[in-house]
Amino acid sequence: MNIHNYEKLWLIAAMLLIIGFIVTITYGSVGLGIAMIDDSEETIDPNALEDHERFGDLGVHQTGDGEYDVNIRAYQFNFEPGSSALGVHDPIVVPENSEVTLYVTSPDVIHSFSVVGTNANTMVVPGEISVMTVEFNEAREYGILCNEYCGSGHHGMEGVIEVVPEDEFHLFSVAGVDAPESAQAGDEVEITATVDNDALDADSAAVSLEIGEETFENELEVDAESSASTTFTVDTGALDLEDAVDIDWTVTVEDGSEATLEDGSASGSIALETDDDENDDTTDDDNDESDGGDQ
Ligand code: CUA
Repeated sequence: MNIHNYEKLWLIAAMLLIIGFIVTITYGSVGLGIAMIDDSEETIDPNALEDHERFGDLGVHQTGDGEYDVNIRAYQFNFEPGSSALGVHDPIVVPENSEVTLYVTSPDVIHSFSVVGTNANTMVVPGEISVMTVEFNEAREYGILCNEYCGSGHHGMEGVIEVVPEDEFHLFSVAGVDAPESAQAGDEVEITATVDNDALDADSAAVSLEIGEETFENELEVDAESSASTTFTVDTGALDLEDAVDIDWTVTVEDGSEATLEDGSASGSIALETDDDENDDTTDDDNDESDGGDQ
């Protein structure tokens, strides 16, 4: 059979076009690492995220050397953690040269989670977990945006990922503080802070105690995935205090972020008692205090 040369040419061109289609579609769906939320996976209860093993424990967790998981809740109209809006500054802090897998879900409506300037961009659907892995090789700040219209506050739904130098990154939190509730003015008080290190390496923590107008700092070595305690001994007589007052204290541990995370610090106060409590006319009508008058 004789095929005309032009016809051959068109046949070959058509074949090449088909092969081209297949190649570009395959590359686009596999090669770029773009993943869709997989609806064959198990769904989770968006109304009980606090009971979920992942979303009951939001934030950054180390899973390996330079590998981190971040569990994030995207809700109307913020990211937790990640928020830089609505007066809540709670950035996601990760070290540079890290591979970070972001797990995002929503308790309310459909949102999106886009890391500005990267190709990390996913829809966030209630009941589903969106997973993205991003490599951060440069210490800098990235914005996070919600690209999916989610209600009246959508335009303000934004956040921040802070990539910090490796030696500035820590996974410390204040696990607890043991401090007296009251003390005699002029006496020494002991305040013991316990610090958790959630990282997979031992790390040295700068623990600071702010009390009255003074700040004390203790260096504390904490093993990998464990806790350690340090005690501050404070002479209340040396604090610059006016009359008998409550002395406020705050214990903070560096965690790589500027955020005042709930678990990044702890605070309380010590009621300072003087010897002449009887003259105290600032108490209210309740005159039969049991602890004041035994002198
Ligand atoms: Cu959330 Cu738009």
